[in-house]
Amino acid sequence: MVKSALVTGAARRIGAEIVRRLHAAGYNIVLHYHRSATDAEALANELNAVRANSVRLLQADLLETERLTELVRQTAAFWGGLDVLVNNASGFYPTPFGAITEVQWNDLLGSNLKAPFFLAQSAVPYLRDRKGCIINIGDIYADHPIEKYSVYSLAKAGLATMTRALAKELAPEIRVNGVEPGAILWPEHDADPAKKAEILARIPMKRAGEASDIAKAVLFLVDDAPYVTGQMLVVDGGRSLFS
Ligand SMILES: NC(=O)c1ccc[n+]([C@@H]2O[C@H](COP(=O)([O-])OP(=O)(O)OC[C@H]3O[C@@H](n4cnc5c(N)ncnc54)[C@H](OP(=O)(O)O)[C@@H]3O)[C@@H](O)[C@H]2O)c1
Repeated sequence: MVKSALVTGAARRIGAEIVRRLHAAGYNIVLHYHRSATDAEALANELNAVRANSVRLLQADLLETERLTELVRQTAAFWGGLDVLVNNASGFYPTPFGAITEVQWNDLLGSNLKAPFFLAQSAVPYLRDRKGCIINIGDIYADHPIEKYSVYSLAKAGLATMTRALAKELAPEIRVNGVEPGAILWPEHDADPAKKAEILARIPMKRAGEASDIAKAVLFLVDDAPYVTGQMLVVDGGRSLFS
């Protein structure tokens, strides 16, 4: 039986690399995207050329909570079940304190915490059947919040707590873990070279990570960690040691 995975926000960047790794490990994939239809289609075509009918696409705004159950149901219907849910999609932008709007709050909490929570809840019956697992992509900012990103940071802190809470509730059938990246891919809206240099100088490994570093950690937790649950694996070149 071919195993299957649903990866959210997976058309580009880290999510796309997670899809590539899981696919190379033999998984059938539902690649969820929101706005990046062209990238999603290109990646699906590329991987379907490697293994026919192994990647399907589903589009959704994850802020529409009522659509999440359907997203999971369709994934399971495509592949006859679900083995892995990877909550990767995320909004990320600064929210300087004093001027934060409820729209920003709902957007950042929605994509980084509420959607992962309700996707997990919808996925549980399918995951239980397959002794599957949930992987939440968090951030080292959950424990070491940076200035001007309070809403994003607290959403990721919630995601880390959710990982531990659901690990307790869903054991022994379902494992729940996460990965907390450090500086991997720079945000596309942030081009300040001085800020990047300052961040890199504080990383013991003296460089940014690569999307593949996160994808490898995900694959480890999915396929090679049967006795690991409730953990957030930090992949940050040692940066959080000094935060
Ligand atoms: N990049 C880093 O160095 C870094 C560092 C620490 C943590 N992380 C975490 O690692 C994960 C991946 O990072 P990344 O930089 O690759 O992410 P990203 O490019 O910022 O976002 C990933 C995807 O999330 C989707 N998304 C955002 N809001 C959504 C919504 N309301 N509904 C549905 N999809 C939505 C977008 O999909 P569409 O493009 O299809 O609209 C986007 O492509 C995230 O959870 C991030 O917080 C990344």
